[in-house]
Amino acid sequence: MPIPIIVDCDPGTDDAVALMLALASPELSVLAITVAGGNVGLDLTLSNALALVALAESQVPVHAGADRPLLGRFVSEPRVHGADGLGGIILPAGGPPTPGLAADVIRRILRDAAESVTLVGIGPATNLALALTTEPALAPKVERIVLMSGAWAEGNVTPAAEFNAWSDPEALEILLDTGRPVVFATLELTAQAIVTPARIAAWRGLGNGRCLQVICDIQATVPPSRRLGGAGAPLHDPCAIAWLIRPDLFTTRACSVRMDLGPGPGRGRTLIDRWGRTGDPVNAMVLETVDADGFFNLLGQRLALLP
Ligand code: BDR
Ligand code: CA
Repeated sequence: MPIPIIVDCDPGTDDAVALMLALASPELSVLAITVAGGNVGLDLTLSNALALVALAESQVPVHAGADRPLLGRFVSEPRVHGADGLGGIILPAGGPPTPGLAADVIRRILRDAAESVTLVGIGPATNLALALTTEPALAPKVERIVLMSGAWAEGNVTPAAEFNAWSDPEALEILLDTGRPVVFATLELTAQAIVTPARIAAWRGLGNGRCLQVICDIQATVPPSRRLGGAGAPLHDPCAIAWLIRPDLFTTRACSVRMDLGPGPGRGRTLIDRWGRTGDPVNAMVLETVDADGFFNLLGQRLALLP
């Protein structure tokens, strides 16, 4: 039986790959895609999600969600994703969003679900947190929450914090407080999944489908990461989806994770206690390693299945 999931996203050059992977994978049943502002503003993340779903000829409903975090101000990340969120690669416009706001839709799906649903968060966690904090009785209907978020060491948007965690740390704290298992694909994991020109070239050779070629075009626009030595760019968000499909490609560790919610330079930091030093109860599973070649082969194989 495919795993029922909701994908909450902010496309985003790497969200684009994650969405395509989810839509191409028979192991998953994507019930809805919900969208927040993040890498770029909500107007663009929403139109990007709609365009990507249309490109894949998918009928999955796409819902608009939060355009800002629970607290504080909205900040985008155009240095990595370009001013339009997809590196300037222009896609044919998709259809209109499906009526219903993200948090309402997430609650409705959970309420109506016969079996529990996995929530996948690859952007700021605002929509997921709004859904679960306004109807906490739905938490048992959540199988698990799988996030690309956080770092156990250095951040990528501040010295302390990873972009998604920093964008809405209060939302992430709400998810950690639900009592449901939370799985983290952190920056240390995604640093092992580097897109290089050679990997893009290998993907390109796998077929002529427009989704595969567009994803290669988009990935070719992402600047190499200075933080990681300049060989390529980390492909963050697909790691969260790939773990659901091929957990055998990953190693994991059970940890406690707490948020730094203070106003100072540590704000948004995920305090990941990998060595059990705090004695805090375990509330998360951290993905620690990924077989990068296996991961990129999986992606290429699945992208080549799409139109
Ligand atoms: C995360 O932030 C965004 O820029 C990416 O889409 C990813 O979700 C990485 O820090
Ligand atoms: Ca993202």
